Amino acid sequence: MPRNLLNSALLLVFAFGLPGPSNAAWKNLTVSDYKLKQSGYSSTIASFDKALLNVQVGDIIGDINHSNPSTAPNVKHLVTSSGYSWESSSDFDDANTDKWYPQGITTSADAYEKGDFDGHRVHLVSWHSDNYDDGKRGARVAFVNRGPGGTKKYRHVLLVQPKGEDDFEAITGLHAGGILWYGTLIYVVDTTGGLRVFDLAHMYQVDGNIKDNIGKSGTKYGAYGYK
Ligand SMILES: *[C@@H]1O[C@H](CO)[C@@H](O)[C@H](O)[C@H]1NC(C)=O
Ligand SMILES: *[C@@H]1O[C@H](CO)[C@@H](O)[C@H](O)[C@H]1NC(C)=O
Repeated sequence: MPRNLLNSALLLVFAFGLPGPSNAAWKNLTVSDYKLKQSGYSSTIASFDKALLNVQVGDIIGDINHSNPSTAPNVKHLVTSSGYSWESSSDFDDANTDKWYPQGITTSADAYEKGDFDGHRVHLVSWHSDNYDDGKRGARVAFVNRGPGGTKKYRHVLLVQPKGEDDFEAITGLHAGGILWYGTLIYVVDTTGGLRVFDLAHMYQVDGNIKDNIGKSGTKYGAYGYK
């Protein structure tokens, strides 16, 4: 059964401020060592803001289409009976796939003390695809609707980084082993490269009919079929 991305869909978030590993001589760390810096990505991101349809968290929650079947994992000290799993249907199988692996989890209650983001209660789960297609499919984040009364459903959003002046690419090698939502920013652990920071103010809709490649495609943009 094909476990492809094509129906998994959606949107892109861009990274900025990537501190790289340093081989400089030893010195004591100071607060300034932890300050995020705007990177050369800023002008490229601004150009995408003009060229592509910007979407909000609410747009994703209003357009989700994969189910999270309820589960009751057999673990000690279970505090809630509202566990959930991933969709497993005839043409889409996140539950048994060996192409993608769920990693970190964070919620809108991490983002803001009031517990929601623009009125939406959401879980974000990072996934890597290190062993799928030589890792070129990158890393993605599932947006899971946890709103009261709402059916538990989710949609995948691909994480991308700018490439050149007007293009973008998936992030090969991003294991996304941890994730934290704080305000409008998403911090994703990059095992040997520090933290990647993605900005919910820069999520974009692209052409979901472009299924086999990512980035600029003629006058359009696509991302392996993601919407
Ligand atoms: C989910 O959305 C994608 C992209 O919009 C679409 O191609 C796919 O058919 C949808 N899947 C379901 C199960 O509705
Ligand atoms: C680092 O800080 C410690 C404690 O203040 C100090 O003893 C040490 O000399 C510092 N090392 C360097 C390389 O600056």
